[in-house]
Order: sequence, then structure tokens, then C-alpha cells
Amino acid sequence: MEIIVCDSPHDVAVQAADILQGYANDGGVLGVATGSTPLLTYQELIRRHKAGEVSFAGCTMFALDEYVGLPIEHEQSYYRVIHDEFSDHVDIDPADVHIPNGLADDVPAACAEYEQAIVDAGGIDVQLLGIGTNGHVGFNEPASSLSSLTRMKTLHPQTVADNARFFNSLDEVPIHVVTQGLGTIQRAGQLVLIATGEHKAHAVSQLVEGPLSAACPASVLQIHPHATVIVDEAAASRLNNVDYYKFIQQNKPQ
Ligand code: PGA
Repeated sequence: MEIIVCDSPHDVAVQAADILQGYANDGGVLGVATGSTPLLTYQELIRRHKAGEVSFAGCTMFALDEYVGLPIEHEQSYYRVIHDEFSDHVDIDPADVHIPNGLADDVPAACAEYEQAIVDAGGIDVQLLGIGTNGHVGFNEPASSLSSLTRMKTLHPQTVADNARFFNSLDEVPIHVVTQGLGTIQRAGQLVLIATGEHKAHAVSQLVEGPLSAACPASVLQIHPHATVIVDEAAASRLNNVDYYKFIQQNKPQ
């Protein structure tokens, strides 16, 4: 894994945008994430798009996850979040923005269709990821199968509590979700995981320096051939080898 430690959340967003920009300008298949952390990256990409530096024409987007049972018009549906915070502000064809269907009558069939749509698009070239305080990626909670595909999951109470800030009350947070699996995520060409803040430091230390384990679903990045972890100093604060990761970045082979 490549570990990039940045001075600030803004610098994390710039580094992530640098990577995504390259794929976007090639008309690539982009895996997009929700949550607070990616918002600065999207704002940076929107800024660059308006400045004529990056185009998403010809790109395809696949979101990681969606709540089950939340109408897509709800402002916290990930359909709305991806459109409102990112895709509606750039030049991607809306028909090429795919979000898992959390309202299907037959959710397992919709999950299988989502997997097939990713395959039909040629696979995801680059997948942007956040990380939960409990080490989840997408909505793959601890004990998720490391080879899982898109499916329905039940959220951990910690995740429900973490996400309650987006809703009026804890009771409004759906507890069922549809998420790309850890196997789906591992099929992407490059993984870019971003994390900022001291509250992510434990999860980041488990991801980078803990064992490969379903107890920390994000640890699957350890067995991906092209995984990039971009963190700020606060999120890196519990890494034992942080000086080494910085040394590597300062001494990249030409
Ligand atoms: P956050 O969520 O970016 O809102 O912290 C990350 C996640 O739960 O994957």
C-alpha cells in the first residue's frame, strides 16, 4: 500500500483529486463514496472542472452503497448525495451515474444486477473509499466476508450513531443498506481510501498495521495490488511507522 500523510484535510482532497482527475480525463469508470470525508475531494474536482482542468464526459460512476427503504428524493439518500454533492456539478451524463437500488421489490436480484452493471462497464477503474470509525468500507461492517459481493447488510449500532448527525434523530437512520461487497471493491483497478481526523486514527492503524481481518473490513486493502491510503496527520496519529511512510514519499524512485 502507498501511505500518503498530508498536513491538512484540504491536502488530502487535493491528493485524491489528483488521482481521480487522471481517470476522469481518460473517461474511466469511477467508484464514488458518500459520507463527509469525500466532500472536499468532490469540491476540488468540481472546482477543477469549472476551471477546465478535468472533464467527466464519457465517464461512468458507481456508488458504493445506499440505504434500504429511503426514497431517492430524501436528502440523505445516497442517490441524492452523489447527485447533489458531485455528479450534477460536472459534465457526466446522468444516465451513467449508478447507485445501488435500495427500493427494489427484489433486493437480492437488484444487487446481482448492480454487480453485472459494473462488469458490463468494464469494471471500476478507481474506487474512492472512506473508512468508518469501526473500520468499515462501504457499508461492509465488521465480520463482513472478505469476498462478498453487492448485498443487503444490517448496520452496526456504531455506524447508525455515527450517521445520525445527517438525520433529525437516531430513529430516522435506516438500519438496512445495500453495499458493494469487499470482493466487489477488491476488483477495482485502484483503491483510494481517504481519512481525516483523530476519530479515524484507530481504524486507520488497524487498516494499515493491523492484521488482515474481517474485524477491520478496510484491511482488505492490504491484499489489493494498487491501494493508496491518504490521511491527514490526525488520522495518522496512531500509526507506528508514520515516519517511514513519510520517508518513502520523500524518496520516491525517479
Ligand atoms: P465519514 O464516513 O466520511 O462521514 O466519516 C466514512 C464512512 O463511514 O465510510
